[in-house]
Amino acid sequence: MFDIQEIRSQFTILNREVNGKPLVYLDNAATSQKPDSVLKVWNDYYTELNANVHRGIHTLSQLATEEMELSRRKIQKFINAKHDFEVIFTKGTTEGLNLISYILTQKLKKDDEIIISYLEHHSNIVPWQLLCERTGAKLRVIPIDENGILQLNYLDEFLSEKTKVVSVNQVSNALGIVNPIEEIIAKTRKNSDAYIVIDGAQSAPHFEIDVQKMDCDFFVFSGHKMYAPMGTGILYGKQEILEELPPFHGGGEMIATCSFDGTTYAGLPFKYEAGTPNVGGNIALGAAVDFIEKTGRQNIQNHENALLEYAQRKLLELENIKIYGEKAKRTGVVSFNLEGVGISSDVGMILDKMGIAVRTGHHCTQPIMSFFNIAGTVRASFAVYNTFEEIDKLIEGVKKAQKMLS
Ligand code: ALA
Repeated sequence: MFDIQEIRSQFTILNREVNGKPLVYLDNAATSQKPDSVLKVWNDYYTELNANVHRGIHTLSQLATEEMELSRRKIQKFINAKHDFEVIFTKGTTEGLNLISYILTQKLKKDDEIIISYLEHHSNIVPWQLLCERTGAKLRVIPIDENGILQLNYLDEFLSEKTKVVSVNQVSNALGIVNPIEEIIAKTRKNSDAYIVIDGAQSAPHFEIDVQKMDCDFFVFSGHKMYAPMGTGILYGKQEILEELPPFHGGGEMIATCSFDGTTYAGLPFKYEAGTPNVGGNIALGAAVDFIEKTGRQNIQNHENALLEYAQRKLLELENIKIYGEKAKRTGVVSFNLEGVGISSDVGMILDKMGIAVRTGHHCTQPIMSFFNIAGTVRASFAVYNTFEEIDKLIEGVKKAQKMLS
């Protein structure tokens, strides 16, 4: 049974007030709240276990190492990776994407091509632009139509022996559009030898992820959008690819031997984990996976889809509301503007006074905003603890903003 009150009771922060009103937290695509179970694991690490990992013979170091490696195995299962050493701890999706674009440098040369899409977050645009600057490669961008849907006939046109990387998100952070990555991956495999990178920042919190079935080469996501602490994230890469490519950061932990004559590198996953990791955060990410598994991924998805459907229906009952990506398959996000009145941040401020947290502006996706010829949108994004009553409050807030700003 899915008991929303029982779920809410696991998040102490949801009891707080903002501006004298009960908090209505609808900014989950930016970061989710954390259940008490995750906070406890994080706190327990620092109060009972704090020690560096993989470095000490002493008991605390051994225990901390065991906990972090247990967490790695939970995440391996969560995304169905073949091996636990294919799971690399990072500080988030941005670091994962930068890591991949850096280690691929030697694989690209002038006039090679990297394919991304119009729906990408800046973190899946800029690292590839930097790679183009380093190598002389060119960026090709799959366009969208007026519903925000990717125009895959362009992918067919772009794919060739020059294509070295295809990197797309599974779900758009700005619009919540679910992209047909199965089709993108199948087309890419058929028509090129490109590395396939999937940005799962906005899908991992909502969907079942199976990287083997997906057959991507890399899959990256953030912990903090899926109930874990900030500064946590995962890079999944296929064993043979990670083994072949060079390291990213150099430092402690990533070496096998180090001398002034030269250094040899550690095996996976440590080759990509230089320096002291975010041990408490990484262990707490395992606890976030436990929370998701216990709640049930299908339950989470069903509830969030019902919230999205309800929010969209209620918004469309109002006059002069424009929803971006209205007709596209979406999850977790409704992105809209009040036509003819104010700018998105004005709406956000009015909602904030009512205790309602949404994100406004360009959502780190300026190309999408340029496409729709707007400066930004109001984005409400959902998590498992949101309720239909909270959406009613959002609608009340939007009505109030319409009145105040017109
Ligand atoms: N990428 C996050 C968002 O979409 C921060 O809000």
